[in-house]
Amino acid sequence: MHKLKGSRILLIGGAGFIGSHIVDQLIQEEPAEIRVLDNLVRGKEANLAKAMRSGKVTLIEGSLTDMHTLRSALRGVDYVFHLAALWLGECVSNPRSAVEVNVVGTYNVVEACRDAGVKRVVYSSSASVYGNALTIPMTEEHPFNNRTFYGATKVAGEQFFRSFYDMHKLPYVGLRYMNVYGPRMDYKGTYVSVIMKVLDKIEAGQRPVIHGDGSQAYDFVHVEDVARCNILALKAQVSDEFFNVGKGTKTTINELVQKLLKLTGSSLQPEYHAQEHIFVTHRLGSTEKAENLIGFKATKELDEGLKSVVEWRRIDQAAVAERRAA
Ligand SMILES: NC(=O)c1ccc[n+]([C@@H]2O[C@H](COP(=O)([O-])OP(=O)(O)OC[C@H]3O[C@@H](n4cnc5c(N)ncnc54)[C@H](O)[C@@H]3O)[C@@H](O)[C@H]2O)c1
Repeated sequence: MHKLKGSRILLIGGAGFIGSHIVDQLIQEEPAEIRVLDNLVRGKEANLAKAMRSGKVTLIEGSLTDMHTLRSALRGVDYVFHLAALWLGECVSNPRSAVEVNVVGTYNVVEACRDAGVKRVVYSSSASVYGNALTIPMTEEHPFNNRTFYGATKVAGEQFFRSFYDMHKLPYVGLRYMNVYGPRMDYKGTYVSVIMKVLDKIEAGQRPVIHGDGSQAYDFVHVEDVARCNILALKAQVSDEFFNVGKGTKTTINELVQKLLKLTGSSLQPEYHAQEHIFVTHRLGSTEKAENLIGFKATKELDEGLKSVVEWRRIDQAAVAERRAA
């Protein structure tokens, strides 16, 4: 078991949604220092505000595409979480940037971590590598049925870690997240999740839109569980393995929308639109391997988790309005 007490930890992309929750939970592990390298294209300093009050967290504003910045952020670091990536939609609209950040950037991370003698890296991959499920639940042996450019960049990243492990023994584990949700998820940008799109509509008093018949089903896992999984993966002995990170429960879009309507006390009925291009319509991961090898089991139930999103969103919106008025 790796001991984090007294260690130096770097989170690349740590000001984002998942990374900032890892930072919050890491403080309890009593590391000597937590560094966050983030260029804030999507992450926010505000996500780290609470953790920064511990006096242990430093934000370095910069990009993993800049080797000099990356190497200096890694100086004296024991452990690394690599979370920085461009999102699914950005990979469609700007594939070259996606290659620069997700592919070359990840190569920069493996090379710089090897050179810095980092003890262990946790790499944020994605269940996107599996594409549409051929069998359910998907085990980690499920073929790479991916057909998206984003998934392609994650497959490339995984392969860099695998090959560097063989060539240079850089210890790592890779995590393939299912659909992560929770407080601090983006609700203002161009690429927001279905949960936020539905809440936007409800808030505007309009009927939430479901594309297709709503039978598309996903495995929603709460961000606090995902952060806990990252820390367990860092502390574990096992290396050179990939793990699904999910709740292991299938929820259809119809069910999700009904839950959100109930939670917000709305009497609106969803509106069905013809199916646009949907990347993946079926996703459910087996949770066995993560349970057996790193002792991770997601515990937050969807109803409770969605409640945390609705409450956080209200508080965040009020804070934004207050800042605007000031
Ligand atoms: N949220 C999900 O449902 C989900 C699912 C599967 C995989 N993932 C993966 O998990 C990781 C974290 O996801 P997230 O939801 O927290 O996303 P996020 O966008 O909130 O976090 C990514 C962070 O990386 C930063 N970043 C982007 N480009 C950078 C660069 N060039 N240099 C430095 N920092 C940069 C962003 O500013 C952001 O803070 C990503 O790799 C993502 O692909 C997320």
